[in-house]
This record gives sequence, structure tokens and C-alpha cells, in this order.
Amino acid sequence: MQSPKSYIFLNIAISILFLLSIVIMYNNKEDKIDNILENNLRLSLMQYRSVMKHYHILADNVKNIIINSPEIIDIFKKAKDASKEERVKIREALRLKLDSRYNYLKKLGFKQIHFHLPNNISFLRMHKVSSFGDDLTNVRYSVKMVNKTLQPINGFEEGRVIHGFRFVYPLFDENNTHIGSVEASISSSAFRKILYDTFFSDIHFLIKKDIVNKKIWPEDRKKYYINSAEISTFYTEMSSDIEHLNRIRENKYYIDKVEENIVNNIPFALYDGLHSIISFLPIKNIEDKKTIAYFAIYSQTEEIKSLIFTYRVFNLLLILIFIVIIYFIRREYLAIQIREKIKKELVDLNATLAQRVDIEIAKNRKKEQQFIEQSRLAQMGEMLSMIAHQWRQPLSAISSTAVGLELKGELDKLDNKFVIKQAQNISKYSQHLSQTINDFRDFFKSDKKKISTSFDEILESVLNIVEVSITNKNIDIIKECEDKEIFHTYSNEVKQVILNLLKNAEDVLVDRDIEDPYIEISTYHKDDKHIIRIKDNGGGISDDIADKIFNPYFSTKTEKNGTGLGLYMSKTIIEEHCKGELDFIKNRHGAIFEIALPDLKEEGG
Ligand SMILES: Nc1ncnc2c1ncn2[C@@H]1O[C@H](COP(=O)(O)OP(=O)(O)O)[C@@H](O)[C@H]1O
Ligand SMILES: [Mg+2]
Repeated sequence: MQSPKSYIFLNIAISILFLLSIVIMYNNKEDKIDNILENNLRLSLMQYRSVMKHYHILADNVKNIIINSPEIIDIFKKAKDASKEERVKIREALRLKLDSRYNYLKKLGFKQIHFHLPNNISFLRMHKVSSFGDDLTNVRYSVKMVNKTLQPINGFEEGRVIHGFRFVYPLFDENNTHIGSVEASISSSAFRKILYDTFFSDIHFLIKKDIVNKKIWPEDRKKYYINSAEISTFYTEMSSDIEHLNRIRENKYYIDKVEENIVNNIPFALYDGLHSIISFLPIKNIEDKKTIAYFAIYSQTEEIKSLIFTYRVFNLLLILIFIVIIYFIRREYLAIQIREKIKKELVDLNATLAQRVDIEIAKNRKKEQQFIEQSRLAQMGEMLSMIAHQWRQPLSAISSTAVGLELKGELDKLDNKFVIKQAQNISKYSQHLSQTINDFRDFFKSDKKKISTSFDEILESVLNIVEVSITNKNIDIIKECEDKEIFHTYSNEVKQVILNLLKNAEDVLVDRDIEDPYIEISTYHKDDKHIIRIKDNGGGISDDIADKIFNPYFSTKTEKNGTGLGLYMSKTIIEEHCKGELDFIKNRHGAIFEIALPDLKEEGG
């Protein structure tokens, strides 16, 4: 996950996985609900069919045992050819004969027992004895068909008084002459009641409003029907459970779903979103097999509710897990980003640091150079006074030789031998002077090249400048030179350093007014190193300043214009240029400075 690209990829992958899980879970939930609904629908259809079957058998029995009995047939067979007055008597006789049995059948759910003549004229309605004589040909398809085909018919059919599940049978006398037909009908309410009693299901009977408005007598319509709670184009049978209907009316979600499904005219089941599964069973009429009504069977269930609950909990968990994962990925990513940033900054810093170090080193070199120049200038002053001492003796020797020559000349006592001897002397003194000048000049040439030299050579030219100035102050110079070897180094710079050390020793010996002052210079050779020591008996350097003497500008001679650069410059020259070491060795009597130099020849350059 180092790059932003892979971070984005990971995020997308997790999101897709998350969405996929959500979709799968949703589908799974929907499948399960569909399954439950389907099972419920199947069960409801079975219930409906079994009740239907039950009534079919019952109706067959009513017809075979009650209606088809000789006493009934004997009365009814006279009706078809009777006059209007006779028919009144026959009707009354038939009614009386059936009355008690009809009351019993009503308890079984048979709402209607209805006799019709062969020409489809209504003869006797046991459920509404006052209504008869009307022609049913255009109102009751079942009656028309049974009288025509002489075959029984059953099914749902709308009627004048009430809609119902009708069982219509043709009737014959003992000679098998067709004498009319009879109908035993179950009202939808009876159907509902028995379904409820057997299966404890709450049932609504819904019927299309236009069918009811067209066929049923208005006073009956008002008695039996109200607006359906489920769907506005349907009536429902009067129910005592108004509260339930109101609850349905408020459930917009459920009503929308009913409306959506009902147009298909096939059985379907719905979840109302609360507690119930409702199976809608379409009811077709006998004549044109059109769906004109529905049974809506309500069954209580907590199954779907708990399913949805579980689903929601899982969803929530999933979302939580998703958020946590995304959070951790993001945290990790940010941490990596920060690490990367720091790394980059470090790399940048390193780059600039190296640059800065280079710049600083260059600056330091320049400064060092300046220090060296500065201390050389300071030394120059010191050396001029040394040269004055150095020259005094040869100059006075030259001068006294000249005076001697002059005197002898005036006295005319000059002989050739004497003159030559004195001239040689003057020349010798002059050479000495000129050597001093050369040494002095060499000092201020800075060494570009290391040259082959020896300590004896170095010491000679240093002492040539400084010796008289020191010995004039009654300081003894003791030399112990063991190292006679030739080696390679920057000899002018080494001379400068030795001069410095001698001058410091002289300073301390004079300053502290040391008795029997001396400076001891010794050289020796050890482990490929050429070592020179400068030792004095000036009392040494106290501990509290010992670690500062090599610092630039550190000096205890501020009143006597010390620069504090001598030792610093000396150390730089020996250690940086000549690759050697310059150290201070503590000693009770005085200071000891030791220079160890390598032979630089082998290193080339
Ligand atoms: N031989 C010595 N004995 C005692 N002190 C010394 C000796 N050489 C140097 N020092 C001390 O170290 C200091 C630094 O010396 P240096 O760098 O040459 O500067 P400067 O001579 O201008 O003071 C001196 O001021 C002195 O205090
Ligand atoms: Mg000094």
C-alpha cells in the first residue's frame, strides 16, 4: 500500500466487496421473504379449495337428498304448466315443505335455495320469498345454461340479491321430464366464516364495484357492502372489525402494493410491513371466467418481521465493519504518507546538509588561511626585532674592521696581507647578513610543495633568525639532535611552527623572570615519525587553561599584544597540512611541545 494508487485500489476493492455483500444479503432476504409469501399463498389456496370442495359435496347432498326427494319433486313438477293462481299455491306448499330444512341449511352456510322454471323465470327464493316471477335469462348465466344443457354448473356468480358460490342443478320428474332447476348458494360471508372457523384466518371478500352496482338491488347493496380498505375500485363485505379496516387504510405501503399486483388477475401474496401476510385469491365468474372478486386472507406472522430485523442487524454490522476497515486502511495509509514525507525531507535535508557542510568547510579553509596570514604578519614584526639582534654583531664587526682598516691606512701601515684578511672578514660577515635575509624571505613564501629536508637544516635556518635574540636574554639554547635523517615535508611551515614554539618559550621565560632559563630542543626518530621537542623551564601551563591553548584567539598575553593565534595555527599546520601531530606534554618544570612528522614522500604529490 505504498502508493496512493494502491490505496485507492484497495478502497475500491473493499467498497465493491461491501456493496456486493449488501446486494447478496438483500437478495437473500428478498428470496426468503418471497419463499415465505409463496408458501403462504399455497397454503391459502389449499384452504380455499378444501372449503370449496366441502361445500360442493354438501351442495350435492342437499340436491340429492333434500331437493330430489319425491315429495318436493311432486310439488315442483306442477309449477311449470300451472296458472298464475295455481303457482301461488304450489309456491306456498313448496315453501312450507322446505321451511324447516332451509333453516337448518342456513346454519350450514347455504344462504340461498332458489327454484327456477325451465324458461328461467324465478319461482321461489327461500331467502326472499316475496321476490319471484322475474326473468333470469339475462341476469343469471348459470340458470340459463343449466336449463339449456340440463347439466349442473357451479361457480361464483353475481346475482340480484347477493353474490355467491352457486351450485345449480337441473330437476326432472319421475318420467325424466325437465321440470326446471334449483340452486343452492353459499354466500361469500358464509365462505369466510367457515375459512375463519377452520383455519383462524381473517378474510376479506373484495368485489368489483361496477359488478355490484350493475346487478344488485340498491337496498341490498347498502346492507351488505362498504368500500374496500385495500383497493378503491372494490367493495368489501360488511365487517364488524372496522378498526382493522382503518389500520389497513393507513398503511400506504401495503395499499400501493395491492394496487400494483391486483391488475394481474392471478393469486398473489404480500407482506403488509407490519404483522401480516395477505394472500389474494382471485375469484372468476362462471360466464366469462373474468376475475371479479378476491378473497384476501390475512395470516399473522412474526417470521418476516424477525427476518427483516436480522437482516438490518447484519447490515448495520456490515456497515460498521466496513467503516472500521476503511478507517484502519486510511490510518495506515496516512502513517505511510507521513513516513514517506519524513523520509523525503530527510533525504532533502541530507542533500542540503552535505552542501552546507561543503560550504562551511570551504569557509573554514578560508578562515584558516586568514589565520595563518594573520599570524605570519604578527610573526613578521617579532622577526624584524630578532633580525636586528642577529645583525648587530656582524654589522659592528664590519664596522670595526672598516675602522681598523681606516686607522692603519691613515698611519700608512696597511700591508696587503692585512687588507686581504680584513676583506675576507667583511665578506664573511656580509654573507652571514645575506643568509639571514634569505631565511627571513623564505619564511614568508608559503609552501606549495613539500621538499626533502632534515631537522638539522630546519633548525639551522630557524636559529639563524632567532638564536641571538634569545641568547641575548641570557637564555641557554640546548640542542640534542639525534635525528639526522632526510625526510619530506612542508619545511617552511614547520620552521614557522618551531619559531612560534621558541618564541612562546622565550616569552614565558622572560615574563616569569626565570632563574637560569633554558630552552631545550631535541630531535629523534621513532616508528617512521620524525619527532622534535621544545622544552623550557618556564613553569608550564596551568591545568585550567591547558585545554584552551590551541583555541584561536586564546592568549594570556593580552597586555603585551599576544594574538592567541600561534598555537592554533601551529596545530593546523602540523596536523592538517603536514599530517603530523602537535601535542602539549605536561611537565612540572615547564612546557614541553612535541611535533611528530611523517615522511610525506611516499604519499606522492
Ligand atoms: N611554553 C609555554 N609556557 C607557558 N605557557 C605557554 C607556553 N606556550 C604557550 N603558552 C600559553 O598559551 C597561550 C597561547 O599561545 P599562542 O597561541 O602562541 O598565543 P600568544 O603567544 O599570542 O599568547 C599563551 O598566551 C600562553 O598562556
Ligand atoms: Mg605565541
